[in-house]
Amino acid sequence: MADLKETIISSMVNGPDVLQDIVSARRNGRDYVTDRFHTKTIVNRLHPDKLSLRVSEIRTAASGAKTFRFVSCGGALPYFEAGQYLNVFTEIDGVRTSRPYSISSSPKQRGYYEITVARIPAGFVSDYFLDKVKVSDTFEANGPAGVFHYNPVFHKKRSVFLAGGSGITPFMSMISEALESGAERDITLIYGVRNEDAAIFKDELISFEKTYKNFRFHLVLSEAPEGYSGRRGFIDEACIRELAGNTDDCTFYLCGPQVMTDFCYEALCKLKVSKNHIRREMFGSRQDIQNEPGWPANLTGNEVFKLKVGDRTIDALSRESILTALERAGIRVNVCCRSGECSYCRVRLVSGKVFMPRGVLLRLADEKFGFIHSCKAYPMEDLEIEF
Ligand SMILES: Cc1cc2nc3c(=O)[nH]c(=O)nc-3n(C[C@H](O)[C@H](O)[C@H](O)COP(=O)(O)OP(=O)(O)OC[C@H]3O[C@@H](n4cnc5c(N)ncnc54)[C@H](O)[C@@H]3O)c2cc1C
Ligand code: FES
Repeated sequence: MADLKETIISSMVNGPDVLQDIVSARRNGRDYVTDRFHTKTIVNRLHPDKLSLRVSEIRTAASGAKTFRFVSCGGALPYFEAGQYLNVFTEIDGVRTSRPYSISSSPKQRGYYEITVARIPAGFVSDYFLDKVKVSDTFEANGPAGVFHYNPVFHKKRSVFLAGGSGITPFMSMISEALESGAERDITLIYGVRNEDAAIFKDELISFEKTYKNFRFHLVLSEAPEGYSGRRGFIDEACIRELAGNTDDCTFYLCGPQVMTDFCYEALCKLKVSKNHIRREMFGSRQDIQNEPGWPANLTGNEVFKLKVGDRTIDALSRESILTALERAGIRVNVCCRSGECSYCRVRLVSGKVFMPRGVLLRLADEKFGFIHSCKAYPMEDLEIEF
């Protein structure tokens, strides 16, 4: 008879797969119960500190976007929830940095992870991925991490996904998992992009819509060519009302550039959708941080301040996060989400003032003892930090 732990595991999204692993481990003479007092061994198996990955395939996903398939350089890849991301480390021109990328492949596929990277203007890591990365290159990564995923306990069975640009990636994983596993969830995807060439996974999504009755796909083009018969404009209140139908019985998930998710969030509030049923992925920091509400009026973004850390003093640009300044100077900080959520990158602000945009999840204790998240803190004057 299954014990309580196994009953709980079986009710989780990936539960049946985990149980399969337990069965095959037992068949090979290894019982997970033997790890009972070695918490680190179990945790490391499910969530290794670092993943070592090799690129096994690269495909064009749309104009200006490529999909990279990663296989493990050793050991099994940990499970993930559809919607989670990997934080991939890179070494570019002598600078070690990282960027989070949502996993776009389905968690049912256990042999690899895929990420899909879209080019952004003057991108540092995205340009590197699109122009330099080749099959066989190896990367370190941490994760899978993040809380942007379907939760059968709290979320409604009707899901409406609002995606913008590369924000389609976590949805691709969620959609493939839900449809291919025969889940009875009803899914509507409203995907906003400039034009059809920029629509990532367009063909796969059209094919899903033809195959599964419980999935509807709407493409919304902001720069539609003349004669385009589909929907044009932005994902606004009217668009959501018309395409999503009754908003009372669904959970909304938003992912894309911050300007787009801010806009959609407002539209959902106007439609009186409960905040508990709006899930939003923090999809990186905005490049034009100077346009963020609350940005200090006396700063242009081009000021260079002094940042003292230990016995070193480095330069820090006001439009760049403290984390970027530290990475440029070769100083390593723990990092994962780069969005102010996970708190890996905490440092203590000893002196000086920083600008923190919305969405930074500081704990009460952080505020009390002067800790900030270096990935989402921008220098407003000369600073001293310690960590
Ligand atoms: C949870 C999550 C999931 C995401 N998933 C995806 C996804 O699936 N697909 C996708 O395309 N994107 C995704 N993103 C966005 C992604 O992480 C990056 O923000 C995006 O690729 C842009 O990175 P970039 O380096 O090209 O641009 P930026 O991070 O904007 O790079 C430009 C900036 O790099 C910094 N920079 C410039 N030169 C240097 C240097 N020498 N050293 C250090 N820093 C420098 C400067 O601050 C400059 O402003 C996701 C983000 C999050 C948070
Ligand atoms: S890296 Fe997650 S809060 Fe900064």
